[in-house]
Amino acid sequence: MSRHGPPDLVIANAGISHGTLTEHAEDIDVFRDILEVNVLGMVNTFHPFVAPMRKAGRGTLAGVASVAGYRGFAGVGAYSASKAAAIRYLESLRLDLRGSGVRVATICPGYIATPMTEKNPYAMPFIISADDFARRFARALDAGKDYAVIPWQMAIVARLLAVLPNALFDAAFSRSGRKPRRT
Ligand SMILES: NC(=O)c1ccc[n+]([C@@H]2O[C@H](COP(=O)([O-])OP(=O)(O)OC[C@H]3O[C@@H](n4cnc5c(N)ncnc54)[C@H](OP(=O)(O)O)[C@@H]3O)[C@@H](O)[C@H]2O)c1
Repeated sequence: MSRHGPPDLVIANAGISHGTLTEHAEDIDVFRDILEVNVLGMVNTFHPFVAPMRKAGRGTLAGVASVAGYRGFAGVGAYSASKAAAIRYLESLRLDLRGSGVRVATICPGYIATPMTEKNPYAMPFIISADDFARRFARALDAGKDYAVIPWQMAIVARLLAVLPNALFDAAFSRSGRKPRRT
């Protein structure tokens, strides 16, 4: 924290995740909550700091998105949509603040062992602890990265996901276990 003016770093990390299925009326509220927290929560977190950081000509806004935003995964339409939106929002913000001295960093975690993932009924490749994630997150910020997938193995997975043709993606991911819905 700097002694005067805005903080050096603001991290928008808050997020929620539940399985969502469009055919269930009760899931509409869950869709709204996930988009509200994961997208608008990020905007609201950054909003108070943008003008002061711009005025000071320094500072970093770091947003936590997800590899889940690279494709629409089965049973988590709201979460994937929210993280895709977060990735694009952060990209826009980066352009908006280009040349101002304020840095925008997009951080896309793969799987991290936290309460969010403890009941996931599917394999979570390359999962790391929250402490390990935090160290890698700090290293990415220290290195001045404006975009990082953590851990690095998931960056390769993410790149493959981004270019996988629909037919292959659908065949590979349509039968995976479903994240529990909010009850
Ligand atoms: N775990 C993973 O594998 C993974 C992978 C990719 C991305 N992420 C992202 O990483 C971030 C952290 O997730 P996590 O794994 O640490 O999940 P978590 O263990 O469920 O923790 C979520 C955090 O978000 C806070 N939060 C939720 N709703 C909030 C609200 N409306 N206002 C303020 N704070 C709120 C929670 O605060 P309270 O405890 O006070 O409710 C909690 O600190 C999220 O954005 C998540 O989408 C996680």
